[in-house]
Amino acid sequence: MANFLSETFRTEPHSLEEVRTSLDKDLADHKQFFPLLKEHHDFLEESISVIMDKDATDFQKQEHLERFFRLVEMHGKAEQEVLYNHLKANPEKEARLEGFAGQDEHDVAFQLEAELTGMGYKTEWSEEIAAKAKVVAGLVKNHIKEEESTMFPIAEENMTEEELEDMRDSYIQKCLGYLINDRAEAIYAGNWKMGTHTDADNFHH
Ligand SMILES: [Fe+2]
Repeated sequence: MANFLSETFRTEPHSLEEVRTSLDKDLADHKQFFPLLKEHHDFLEESISVIMDKDATDFQKQEHLERFFRLVEMHGKAEQEVLYNHLKANPEKEARLEGFAGQDEHDVAFQLEAELTGMGYKTEWSEEIAAKAKVVAGLVKNHIKEEESTMFPIAEENMTEEELEDMRDSYIQKCLGYLINDRAEAIYAGNWKMGTHTDADNFHH
């Protein structure tokens, strides 16, 4: 009950360390593939809502944009390597089209990430950056909605229970890999907490 309440009323976004812990747990619990992807969509939504909120401060948006991209990279890349590749090779045309469309939308999001990185969003903030951040957050928000309402049901229809279980395991392994890659690249992986960026690297695995 206590856990249920703290989940229900939690207002803090999950830190990347909490995301990593949840991956270990979901792997051990054999969480089903699509509920797992939806859980990761919820992690993304925690930042999308701030980036798109006209009342959020510039600092909040900047922090959340970086968290958002770390999660887009983890979830998006793992999802395309596992689920989209599978869909693109599916015997059913409907499933293949979903895979190609999903990939195109990810490509646009990664393109916008590259543009925002080029604009230096991690160290400065401007109206142009805020506008582009809102575009990419809105794009991913719609993409998530579309996946949950259309792609996932089509994928579920066209895949066996065994395939879904294999995809779940391989998706989680890839997610862990992408989070660990963050460690080499940045200070961020284990330490993402609102307002408390730190250079300390205490990311253990
Ligand atoms: Fe997704």
